[in-house]
Amino acid sequence: MFSAPPGAQFPANIAPPGSPLASPAGFGPSVPGTLIPQGQIPGANLLPASPTQLPSLANRAPALAPHAVAGNGVPDSVLSVAPAFEPRSGGVVQGVPQQIGAPVAPQAATSPFYFLSDGYGHPSAGTTPAISPPGQVLPPLPLAGEGWGEGGSVQSYAGVPSPQPLTPTLSPEGRGSQPQFYFVDAVPLAGGGQHPPFDVHAVRRDFPILQERVNGRQLVWFDNAATTHKPQSVIDRIAYFYEHENSNIHRAAHELAARATDAYEGARERVRKFINAPEVEEVIFVRGTTEAINLVAKSWGGQHVGEGDEIIVSNLEHHANIVPWQQLAAAKGAKLRVIPVDDSGQVLLDEYRKLLNDRTKIVAVTQVSNALGTVAPVKEIVELAHRAGAKALVDGAQSVSHMRVDVQDIGADFFVFSGHKVFGPTGIGVVWGKREVLEDMPPWQGGGNMIADVTFEKTVFQPIPNKFEAGTGNIADAVGLGAAIDYVNKVGIENIARYEHDLLVYGMAQLGAIPGVRLIGTAADKASVMSFVLDGYTTEEVGHALNDEGIAVRTGHHCAQPILRRFGVETTVRPSLAFYNTFDEIDRLVSVVRRLAGRRRG
Ligand code: ALA
Repeated sequence: MFSAPPGAQFPANIAPPGSPLASPAGFGPSVPGTLIPQGQIPGANLLPASPTQLPSLANRAPALAPHAVAGNGVPDSVLSVAPAFEPRSGGVVQGVPQQIGAPVAPQAATSPFYFLSDGYGHPSAGTTPAISPPGQVLPPLPLAGEGWGEGGSVQSYAGVPSPQPLTPTLSPEGRGSQPQFYFVDAVPLAGGGQHPPFDVHAVRRDFPILQERVNGRQLVWFDNAATTHKPQSVIDRIAYFYEHENSNIHRAAHELAARATDAYEGARERVRKFINAPEVEEVIFVRGTTEAINLVAKSWGGQHVGEGDEIIVSNLEHHANIVPWQQLAAAKGAKLRVIPVDDSGQVLLDEYRKLLNDRTKIVAVTQVSNALGTVAPVKEIVELAHRAGAKALVDGAQSVSHMRVDVQDIGADFFVFSGHKVFGPTGIGVVWGKREVLEDMPPWQGGGNMIADVTFEKTVFQPIPNKFEAGTGNIADAVGLGAAIDYVNKVGIENIARYEHDLLVYGMAQLGAIPGVRLIGTAADKASVMSFVLDGYTTEEVGHALNDEGIAVRTGHHCAQPILRRFGVETTVRPSLAFYNTFDEIDRLVSVVRRLAGRRRG
């Protein structure tokens, strides 16, 4: 996350809108599929999401567990031990020299490969880490002097004096002499443990696609807001599913059905834990955020929104959080109302308060804007919605990969996100909803898997979550999402947030200092996204110039036309960061933009 104190100064060339220039949670004992003894505990024999973490067969119960129950509470007499996982050549996966299938000691889950125990010569090594309770939104980071990092005034983080060393790392000048490694201090993880510093180069080795060459250059992936890349463990997990577990779920009396069911329900539990949902049955798998919002609009909205009612969204929304509500409003004679944003791209809470009234039925807002990167104050937005008697939905598509999400803390009725934006596969996403709200909703699609009993007169539906999962779902990719969550947990979401925050401070400072660059979206609280336009060039031209150098960014309207128009533009260039990006990659981006700016036309 990126944040700055209220009233922070931005570089002179950030023109106002409209101006011409304008512990490892995945492996804890409560996660199905871990080292829980086989037996009668529901889900006890579930397979870990990551095959690299499988305990050896020698440690597993040798026989079928006829009374085991699938994690979803679906009785299944055929649940059995997890299959053996065949090591690939050399038993090395994702650069981790660990025999697949070898016993995994509990402490091994804290990978030595992601964290550096000392500083590699970086002066910040060994300093007392900043302490920030898990789940807490990191407090604002002071902006650098007159600009984004210039002058190296980034002094503190999470309320604790920051080691000076970030200054040279973030300095626009002289980076060539900096060490190759970039560090942030460790922050405590949810499990109470504390990882040593984050090593981006170790992380990068887990993502094979980052070795691709594009136009003769090593790929730089700055299109993370569109989709993220997949670590080897996710790729392996999906392959493993098809090699050893592939079956439909919940409905067959055979071994592979049991394996597939276990894997799928194990992934559901991983999602639950990842977002701190109270109950696993509240987690519904869908195709992605778009389908998730459509489910809520069609099912909940269809039942609860009527003529004259009002639905509130913010100006920041992705089309996926506008169009389904617009369709609902049109069908019901309801009205869509919009929370405006200020010139930095932050929502105006006072204006929002004025929109709320007793006709407001639901407030649907993004947690992080995909076009600007603004981190919206969703907790306050939800609280105000509830005070007005409305329900609240939070779109987490752009937040879950950048910050800890705790749905109980946010307090919304629905939280939705996509797997592919959090290092998982495409085609899988999640609706989390409060049990009582979901139970009160009708199914939105009918078919197999979601019924308890069907006659020609009447159908009795399954309880949640199955009620909302008609037909054969995306089983393999749900399992892949579970592996992605394991991976994120292993690196540590607080480590990710902190590292990305420093990347963003640096990137915004560098881009903002280029004459003719106008940054679009300068809210104090930001994550990942650095949208900009360059005077004298179309955004497409900038995108092509970057692609020529192997740098991938999205250009266009980012499926968020209303917010771009609020800033007087139809399109932007949108580099967006993930934790495998580096400061060197930002330098490569900046040097292309600087070169274009230097030969500006017109
Ligand atoms: N929502 C994705 C983006 O912002 C596709 O690019």
